[in-house]
Amino acid sequence: MDDSTPNPQFEVLFDHGEPSPVPDASLAGYGDLGFPPPPADRPWIYTNFVQSLDGIVSLLGKHASGGEIAQSSADRWLMDLLRAHADGVLMGMNTLREEMRLRGPESRGIVFQVVEPELLRLRETLGKGRQRNIFVTRGRDLELSQCKVFDGDAVDAVVITSPHGASRLCAHGTHPHVTVIAAGEGDQLDLPAAIRQLRTRLGVEHLLCEGGPMLYGTLARADLVDEKFVTVAPVEVGQAVPPEQERLANEQGVGRLIRPNVFGGPGFTRETMTRWAWLSCRKHGDNQFNRYRRKQGTPLPQESLESWSYEASMNRPYHM
Ligand SMILES: NC(=O)c1ccc[n+]([C@@H]2O[C@H](COP(=O)([O-])OP(=O)(O)OC[C@H]3O[C@@H](n4cnc5c(N)ncnc54)[C@H](OP(=O)(O)O)[C@@H]3O)[C@@H](O)[C@H]2O)c1
Repeated sequence: MDDSTPNPQFEVLFDHGEPSPVPDASLAGYGDLGFPPPPADRPWIYTNFVQSLDGIVSLLGKHASGGEIAQSSADRWLMDLLRAHADGVLMGMNTLREEMRLRGPESRGIVFQVVEPELLRLRETLGKGRQRNIFVTRGRDLELSQCKVFDGDAVDAVVITSPHGASRLCAHGTHPHVTVIAAGEGDQLDLPAAIRQLRTRLGVEHLLCEGGPMLYGTLARADLVDEKFVTVAPVEVGQAVPPEQERLANEQGVGRLIRPNVFGGPGFTRETMTRWAWLSCRKHGDNQFNRYRRKQGTPLPQESLESWSYEASMNRPYHM
């Protein structure tokens, strides 16, 4: 960990973003942060990832979480700052599973919430409501009572899934306080339609996606990423898990274990790749904090997760 205070002092190299909607002492070390108003029919969607110099977002194994790449309290603080501005934090189920696996099932995972007191106060000043965690899942084997985030005491919890996934979840009847958003047909989830429901049903105007790569890839293919906050950590780790890294039980027997970058699943061609404006850049220690805004994108046909070769091709042995 680098040594920094709870309110880290960033060096602002440039920033062409919007001014903050309210002046606040918590922003003294960061500078302005503002967002455009959302489009009419869905939230404004911004993502936050940390990656190594060589673009890796998870080491896999015992140190799989993004925090192990960042090792920076400034990055942790920025995560809270971005959460403070969000009406909901969106995640793929594997990111929660991974946290639970790393901490042991008795931990019942984590809650993705603002912890810095000054940023909790900023959130209040911004007029944001109760914090909200939103998980995307096919809902095949999800047991809500296994994860404390669904208890409902810390944050509001929402699950986005297919109609069949929703039926399976609701059949348990144990968590009436968890909002289930179903979109699509049968076992197929229509993610763009579900995202629209976040706006129309729950009033989510600014949505922060914290990953992981598989969810990011689906959102990007649907042209649903408006902005990217990318922390580049000053470490280089390589793509293939080295032989000397201890493998977890679920990684045994996989020949070549490949670490992911931010974009899971099918990507783009030269013709369809998205283009981004580099909006801001900050420095803290040797970490780089970038913000990009999409200039041009094209929604592409959505594949169902079933048809993806991602899990197989990346050899990623996920499951609780
Ligand atoms: N460096 C960073 O900043 C950062 C950030 C986040 C995560 N990570 C790391 O990334 C890893 C997890 O990433 P991941 O790519 O494996 O998983 P993920 O994107 O977190 O979750 C994938 C899961 O989400 C659900 N899902 C995602 N898109 C879906 C869609 N379009 N339709 C239906 N369900 C969908 C499915 O859940 P079900 O399986 O339940 O159906 C799918 O298996 C972890 O190691 C985590 O630590 C790093």
